[in-house]
Amino acid sequence: LVLCLVLRFSILILCFTSSRGCSSDVLADLPLSMESFIKVVQRIEGRGLGPSPLTVVRSLRGVAYEGDAFVEHFLGDPDPFPSGENEAPMWDPTLSEFIHLMVRHRIVGQAREEGVVLGSDGTTVALGSLLLGIEAGLVAGAGESVSGLYSLTIARNLGLSFLHSQDSQILGPDGCWDNVTFPRVFTLSGPPSLATDALVNGGMDGVLLGKYLSTHPLHALQLSTVLRDYYGLHPGGPPEGPHLISFQRRDNFRRLVNGSVLQELVLGSLATLQRLGEAEDTGQAAALEDVVKGGVQKFVHRYLECPVIIPRCQWGARPYRGSPTQLSLPLAFMYIHHTHTPRQPCLSFRQCTADMRAMQRFHQDVRRWDDIGYSFVAGSDGYIYEGRGWQWRGAHTRGHNTRGYGIAFVGDYTATLPARRSLELVRESLASCGVMAGWLTGNFTWHGHRQLVNTSCPGGALYLEIESWKQFRSRDQAARHH
Ligand SMILES: *[C@@H]1O[C@H](CO)[C@@H](O)[C@H](O)[C@H]1NC(C)=O
Ligand SMILES: *[C@@H]1O[C@H](CO)[C@@H](O)[C@H](O)[C@H]1NC(C)=O
Ligand SMILES: *[C@@H]1O[C@H](CO)[C@@H](O)[C@H](O)[C@H]1NC(C)=O
Ligand SMILES: *[C@@H]1O[C@H](CO)[C@@H](O)[C@H](O)[C@H]1NC(C)=O
Repeated sequence: LVLCLVLRFSILILCFTSSRGCSSDVLADLPLSMESFIKVVQRIEGRGLGPSPLTVVRSLRGVAYEGDAFVEHFLGDPDPFPSGENEAPMWDPTLSEFIHLMVRHRIVGQAREEGVVLGSDGTTVALGSLLLGIEAGLVAGAGESVSGLYSLTIARNLGLSFLHSQDSQILGPDGCWDNVTFPRVFTLSGPPSLATDALVNGGMDGVLLGKYLSTHPLHALQLSTVLRDYYGLHPGGPPEGPHLISFQRRDNFRRLVNGSVLQELVLGSLATLQRLGEAEDTGQAAALEDVVKGGVQKFVHRYLECPVIIPRCQWGARPYRGSPTQLSLPLAFMYIHHTHTPRQPCLSFRQCTADMRAMQRFHQDVRRWDDIGYSFVAGSDGYIYEGRGWQWRGAHTRGHNTRGYGIAFVGDYTATLPARRSLELVRESLASCGVMAGWLTGNFTWHGHRQLVNTSCPGGALYLEIESWKQFRSRDQAARHH
């Protein structure tokens, strides 16, 4: 059966390529990026009247989830190869291997995660979870609720992780690509749970796109077009405001579920797994409920309250020089900066990571600091970048580095403001994440760099903005606290 599915799948791909000769080896040498995956999808779609989007995702599912009873419970057998499309088949093991590597999720060895690709926004996505959501959405008729949408994409993974990793980490971790311009190997930054960040990202995207496709039938649109839009692979900066796009996945997902809804979904998935004989009977319902409740709380904190923080390895940070000093937590102050140089806001992962590297070089080589000075840096690409992080003393606000975190917005904000979205990320998500985790006191206060040091930083316009933030304190009040 396995061989049969693989065969069918390869034939499906290749029958659309063979008219111009097979150049799939070119595809197989591509980086493991979302862009490459979209190219593969385009190849499968072919030109003109290619297979329907549903046929495409079903075939990919045949590779990603062979013989998975839970998946088949909701979606049925993977589509048999549609008759009539089977002309001039050509066996090409190279492309088939590449597709396996991209869509079939597994942990190899201690920490290598496969079945994941790097998005152009710098986050990593498990394609299998994404594809299940899309398939569920395409199957649902207009106006119907999408059967199994959450179970397939995210709730099963969470449930199994909560059950089976009780003593260790139950969520994450994130990881690092070997090379972000040409990603091939993704290495997790800690012991793997059954709900890695990539699985959660893919699951959230699957829910969002599945819901979207169930109400916006594809008609003439191709799947590759939908993916290209969602993953922001069009030129131009990110749009403002809520939008169905990958860098807003947490905001969009938060609009759909809360902790109690998610808890029911996870319990429901576990019950289905048990009925299918795919999970042990855990016995006491009350105990199970507690485990799931605790797990969901951690999920909500990690993925819905906290912002995405792009880790140092992803922006290509050099190592810290010397030994970092641990902060004595929690801290009570957040100091706002602008970078001034770079002057332009960064609007993409590529630009923001280049800016991070440039600032670190300047701070280390010219200023002779141990590392980039800031604790965190906010891009205008929808993400926050890790500088020294929550645990380590920074070099941002002379005389105050042990008392507060230094947060810098990339750009010069003398006359204009950062993107509204990045202001919100810092003011709402980053701050509440720090408070929840116990790194920041609940009564912490915001200050501009200029209140503590003789400088114009963070720029007149940005300073005026933060003066309106709820926990902002004036210079006098700040001085009194010291
Ligand atoms: C990443 O890959 C690109 C393209 O192959 C290459 O030019 C670059 O040197 C690589 N970067 C690192 C850090 O290895
Ligand atoms: C969670 O959402 C559900 C449905 O949208 C709602 O009925 C419930 O009150 C919400 N619970 C909380 C704690 O906000
Ligand atoms: C802030 O809260 C902490 C306890 O979390 C308390 O010790 C401290 O006095 C408070 N500071 C101010 C200025 O209210
Ligand atoms: C602040 O800096 C400006 C220019 O850098 C300088 O002219 C001024 O005297 C400084 N003020 C104080 C109080 O040091």
